[in-house]
Amino acid sequence: MAMYFLNILTTPILFLNYLILFNLSKKKVLNNINYSLFLMAIFDKIAWLYDPLVRLSSRSRRCAEKIKFVAKLKKSDVVLDIGGGTGLIASFISDDVKKIIVLDPSKKMMAKSKSDKIEKVYGTVHGMKFKDSTFDVVYCVDSFHHFTNGHKKKEFDNAFHDSIQEMLRVLKKNGVLVIIDFDTEKFRGKMMNLFEKWFFNGDSKFNSRDELRNLFDPFKVKVEVFDLDNSCYIAKIPKINK
Ligand SMILES: C[S@@+](CC[C@H](N)C(=O)[O-])C[C@H]1O[C@@H](n2cnc3c(N)ncnc32)[C@H](O)[C@@H]1O
Repeated sequence: MAMYFLNILTTPILFLNYLILFNLSKKKVLNNINYSLFLMAIFDKIAWLYDPLVRLSSRSRRCAEKIKFVAKLKKSDVVLDIGGGTGLIASFISDDVKKIIVLDPSKKMMAKSKSDKIEKVYGTVHGMKFKDSTFDVVYCVDSFHHFTNGHKKKEFDNAFHDSIQEMLRVLKKNGVLVIIDFDTEKFRGKMMNLFEKWFFNGDSKFNSRDELRNLFDPFKVKVEVFDLDNSCYIAKIPKINK
């Protein structure tokens, strides 16, 4: 029952967060630079507010706990958080693993992470500088749908294909990739999809569970998708060919 009320409470908080963040960033950025640069710069502009607002909810901690459980994280593991932003989720994981790296194209988001247990690497999922088979676990939370940003709609499938190829490349054999994102088959996921479509001018792409499975089809890996909560799914993709 308590969880039910907590959920009712956190929904408007989460949507309010996004509304405030995105309205602020639009006002500050859109007049000055063109739209594709805006897409790259947006998280730099909102980083100062993103972290405190996201901390209002316990969602980041819950995501971290689910990742630990689903990926069966071990003390010896080397972990990569792609689109890790302010490193909040990594901060709930860093004590339980050997090494954790946050990769993100927003330096200002990453600057919010002050932990010396988290390594920060500037970059995007496309063309990561890591060697093949570096990580035991790779995960991304609320960032997969951004991997199409800056691409035209007809390039979306290619952008996802290349990002998946990269994530599997840096993963060790028998390693696990975990993706948490909004589920477009759920009401709150649908709302988030509509909102980001409007805000990012259709540049972000949320995937239903079937769409996600289809994206992984060429890679011959098994994709298991579970409910994270009433807005998101968590997908577990072990690097073992079917
Ligand atoms: C909504 S935030 C999520 C941050 C963090 N994962 C969390 O849950 O608190 C999305 C993050 O994805 C990053 N991002 C956007 N495009 C990316 C790309 N192509 N590759 C890697 N990260 C990207 C953004 O800079 C931003 O920090």
